[in-house]
Amino acid sequence: MPMRVAVCISGRGSNLRALLAALGPAAPAQVVLIISSSAEAGGLVLAREAGIPSVVLAGQRGTSAMHQTLNDHRIDLVVLAGYLKQIPADVVESYRDRIINVHPALLPDFGGQGMYGIHVHRAVLASGKRESGATVHLVDEEYDRGRILAQERVPVLPGDTPELLAARVLEVEHRLLPAVVLAAAREGHPVPIGPSTR
Ligand code: GRF
Repeated sequence: MPMRVAVCISGRGSNLRALLAALGPAAPAQVVLIISSSAEAGGLVLAREAGIPSVVLAGQRGTSAMHQTLNDHRIDLVVLAGYLKQIPADVVESYRDRIINVHPALLPDFGGQGMYGIHVHRAVLASGKRESGATVHLVDEEYDRGRILAQERVPVLPGDTPELLAARVLEVEHRLLPAVVLAAAREGHPVPIGPSTR
């Protein structure tokens, strides 16, 4: 039986697209549910095209409904892919060590509340750091503080704008997240992966 994966999105869903492309019909993990924090998320179009059930959980109602939705769909792994809301504590508890997130920086640097999307890359450039990258980590009660499962670095180049750096990091995210999901499916739970397994 393949690992049943729920993907949580808030926006265009480029990480969802990359994950769906990496999980062929015989893959040991299958996306069986998409949860969006916004009815306008572009990723919902992907869900419809792929014939995957999707649920919009917006506002406070969404916090308690998430737990029920995950249980109803017998979810084994929750993947946050551009998801901008905090996961309710009851969900973190019930799905301990079974929720992963992709972050567009080298955590623990440039993480935490408010550090999402273009804000991350602006901060990296403002810091003068010569490299950035992407991180996939376990989700716990604090933003971006869970155990790191995978990281991959990219150079910060002279003349970089936040948009150019974001695009370079996003390419890494699109490889790193599927690699971690596939490793989790093979092991039965999320595990750290090194550079060789990508
Ligand atoms: C991107 O900034 C990505 O780095 C982060 O969330 C944002 C949107 O991702 N994970 P997506 O294109 O909606 O997957």
